[in-house]
Amino acid sequence: MNKGQLLYEGKAKRLYETEQTDILFVEYKNSATAFNGEKKAEIDGKGLLNNKISTIIFEKLKEHGIDSHFVKRVSDHEQIVRKVDIIPIEVVIRNIAAGSFAKRLGFEEGTLLERSIVEFYYKDDALGDPFINNEHVDILGIATKAEVEALYELGLKINSVLQPIFEEIGVILVDFKLEFGRDKDGNVLLADEISPDTCRLWDAQTKQKLDKDVFRRDLGSLIEVYEIILARLGGK
Ligand code: C5P
Repeated sequence: MNKGQLLYEGKAKRLYETEQTDILFVEYKNSATAFNGEKKAEIDGKGLLNNKISTIIFEKLKEHGIDSHFVKRVSDHEQIVRKVDIIPIEVVIRNIAAGSFAKRLGFEEGTLLERSIVEFYYKDDALGDPFINNEHVDILGIATKAEVEALYELGLKINSVLQPIFEEIGVILVDFKLEFGRDKDGNVLLADEISPDTCRLWDAQTKQKLDKDVFRRDLGSLIEVYEIILARLGGK
């Protein structure tokens, strides 16, 4: 499989065509961004760590019957994935109050939610990824009612698989963001990445933040905490 033309460059990854129309190369970059790109840095080693962590998580999900665009990791910074049309909805699942949820609704950070909740954000950088509901999804015409149902269902199912996986390694899965796409047959498929860039992960004992909040809030070395997550997941 050869890397062809650059198809798309996002904040954390580059996508390249391959000779196979339904397969892409993904390159994980070392760029770190926060607050919709307002805060930026290049952090050596970040792309490699997210590539490896995301690979382990996609493989674990597959073992639990949850398919994704992930095919295989081919180098320190690259994966081969199935091509999908990304649905422009960021699906956020929350178990514990933190981040924008805590701020918007006045919850104290760290409050255990009575049940896991699913939120939608419209994936649009120019608009700052606004919070949206099902009515907005419908009016915007970005997903069908059946797809919205699939996003809820898959979001909660992925949460119920990931929570015990993290629990076993002494990590609390506070919240996380998922993206989905449509494959060539129109099926909804998990896509993008699942890594400490897209999850809030706290050490179960000390509540130390082991995720991108370390960068967002200047809490120390991002690499050190991402390395802890990779090592606890059994990666090197
Ligand atoms: O900022 P907020 O509390 O809404 O983020 C919820 C979760 O979604 C966090 O784990 C955060 O890392 C993730 N997220 C993301 N990409 C975004 C927005 C949020 O990965 N654009």
